[in-house]
Amino acid sequence: MSLAKKVAFDPTLAEAVRTGLGARPKTLPPWLFYDEEGSRLFEAITELPEYYPTRTERAILETFATEIMAAAGHPGCVIELGSGSARKTALLLEAVFTHRPEVVFHPIDVSAAALDEAKTQLGERLPNLRVEPVCGHYLPALEALAHAGGPRLILFMGSTLGNFEPGEAIAFLRELRSHLRPDDLFLLGLDLEKDPAILVPAYDDAAGVTAAFNLNLLARLNRELGADFDLDAFRHLALWNAVEHRIEMHLVSLKPQTVRFAATGLEITFIEGERIHTENSYKHPPAEVDRILAEGGFAPVAAWTDARGWFTLRLARPR
Ligand code: AVI
Repeated sequence: MSLAKKVAFDPTLAEAVRTGLGARPKTLPPWLFYDEEGSRLFEAITELPEYYPTRTERAILETFATEIMAAAGHPGCVIELGSGSARKTALLLEAVFTHRPEVVFHPIDVSAAALDEAKTQLGERLPNLRVEPVCGHYLPALEALAHAGGPRLILFMGSTLGNFEPGEAIAFLRELRSHLRPDDLFLLGLDLEKDPAILVPAYDDAAGVTAAFNLNLLARLNRELGADFDLDAFRHLALWNAVEHRIEMHLVSLKPQTVRFAATGLEITFIEGERIHTENSYKHPPAEVDRILAEGGFAPVAAWTDARGWFTLRLARPR
């Protein structure tokens, strides 16, 4: 008997693969990374010595959580988009809870497992904090919280916006803004541009965890679409694109090969050296962050960074 977990056929996944691998150059969308194994590997990435963003954002919160929550006026409701296990958020929640113990925290995530973990972890640290998770996609879940007591503080941290294409990021901010009330505030965490000698190893670590994270995409397609990708016939590539200000991740075919998808009948051929572009992670100069927020319909309130100026947290209000 096979011990492999059975996963239901997902037509959205099949369509994304058909479109992406049919394009030139070949691409796969980054949301495909986060199946159970991919989410586990991402958690491992955040602990790597080379992967500085998570610990740098945490260091900013450790230093400034009290100041950030004071600047946000000690909101009665904190909503986090893509909370995951909300480990770093506890620092902000502790700071607001001291002033306003009736504060309610609504973590939003597509992963019910991550929300359970957030609830358990926060329950240990802040047993009297009200935590009311919402499982779903960011904006529909936010809509479900339209009547939550306010003023509200919306968190979007971890540089998740950096994985959006620039146009998509602005469109997302505009749509988010249209869901906000005039007295709501928004806290955005974004990674900043820095020396490629720091950036590239963060996405190509010595232990090979990021390589495993990238290759898990192909393993996922084998599991869920019956594809026959040979994982040894592709290699992970991370590079700095200075013109676009982004780290790119690719999977490179090591030989000419054809891959078949039993679930859909799709056949894809690769020449040697051909790449699948799997992720962009934008690293903006600070002024660019201001521009993106302004174009997205937000006015600056305050900004914090770490001692090296590697990462930024921006507090903004809807214009
Ligand atoms: C989730 N996101 C902000 C991560 C990043 O740094 O772009 C995803 C990641 N990809 C490779 N390592 C981490």
